[in-house]
Amino acid sequence: MIVKEKNWSFDEVVDRSGTQSAKWDYYDKDLLPLWVADMDFKVPEPIIDAILDRAKHGVFGYSYFHSTYFDAVLDWFKRRYDWEIRKNWLAFTPGVIPAINIAIQSFSNPGDKIIVQNPVYYPFFGVIKNNGRQILYNPLKRIGGRYQMDLDDLKRKIIDERVKILILCSPHNPVGRVWTREELIDVGEICINNEIMIITDEIHCDLILPGFRHTNFASINNDFAMNSITCTSLSKTFNLAGLQLSTIIIPNKKLRKSFINQIESVFIPEEFGYLPNDLSLVAFTTAYQKCDAWLNSLLIYIKQNLDFLKSFLNNNIPQIDVIEPEATYLVWLDFRKLGIEIDKLKNFLQQKAKVALDDGSMFGSGGEGFQRINIACPLITLKKALERIHNALKEI
Ligand SMILES: Cc1ncc(COP(=O)(O)O)c(C=O)c1O
Repeated sequence: MIVKEKNWSFDEVVDRSGTQSAKWDYYDKDLLPLWVADMDFKVPEPIIDAILDRAKHGVFGYSYFHSTYFDAVLDWFKRRYDWEIRKNWLAFTPGVIPAINIAIQSFSNPGDKIIVQNPVYYPFFGVIKNNGRQILYNPLKRIGGRYQMDLDDLKRKIIDERVKILILCSPHNPVGRVWTREELIDVGEICINNEIMIITDEIHCDLILPGFRHTNFASINNDFAMNSITCTSLSKTFNLAGLQLSTIIIPNKKLRKSFINQIESVFIPEEFGYLPNDLSLVAFTTAYQKCDAWLNSLLIYIKQNLDFLKSFLNNNIPQIDVIEPEATYLVWLDFRKLGIEIDKLKNFLQQKAKVALDDGSMFGSGGEGFQRINIACPLITLKKALERIHNALKEI
């Protein structure tokens, strides 16, 4: 089924080369890129129109977060998650990674330990190290093909009094898990009992595939709300990563105050804090208000691409295992049965197959022999990439 409604078609191939795109212009032109987590689709029309209108206005002075923006955010969380957040809980940053940096600086001290659940989104490692904190690994375990948190390992490690924060990736990149409410309650209680706060990175929470439901960690109960900050953005949802804006939800007044103090130490002290980029503000406000139908269609298209990926691999390269994602457009693939040496896999894919994926080893221990493929592209692009891998394998 081709998803085409109103003025959008996810089948349209948009030439992104020459736009200073990290995905399309970083590697040689002959590599087909299915790596960094943005999409090859045009954003919803209302966003393009809103940016054009604003650009035609022609004056780009300072902007600030007006009540229109707050209302749009509050309404989004109520409408899509039935979560009633309050205006005064919100803080803003130019991205989720900047927010995690600020949170680490606000809520821990150099030398403290911060838990990650690897294999996981690799910039977490750099953020912890760059801030002079130590990484404490709580590896995910794979049971019956499905990744799960290892809570026994967590309980054993957490007793160290230097452990201060757990970074929860929810939904999880790259393994694609949507943590269940019960799983979140278990990890949340362990953290509360050991005075560990949670930074919950929910940047992928709008990209939930059919049959699954995201639970906002802080919406579970008041104790969890008071012991966490939630990092969100529509940057993944509507392909706005280059416009750099995120909404950070901090119900705990004390945590909020120290987070905002830290923002003000870098941006503007008092009153305003971080002032948004004018065009981003327009784009994100429109995204919160007017683009639900586009998102619903996007998720159907991603699911179709996922089904294609599974059947192509099953029919042609059954040695590659697909870890079925429950969310995101990123799919974690296990290449270990192919028999290619792990440290030669990336070169094989780039030099022989001419595709750029994300090498699993970057996601930390447990990622070796895996690759992460980004399927947020027209089906024809995905097909081309898989055929290239298939053909290259035939030659060895
Ligand atoms: C889990 C996760 N967190 C954060 C980011 C990056 O967020 P930002 O670009 O807002 O810093 C990504 C991007 O892929 C991600 O997958």
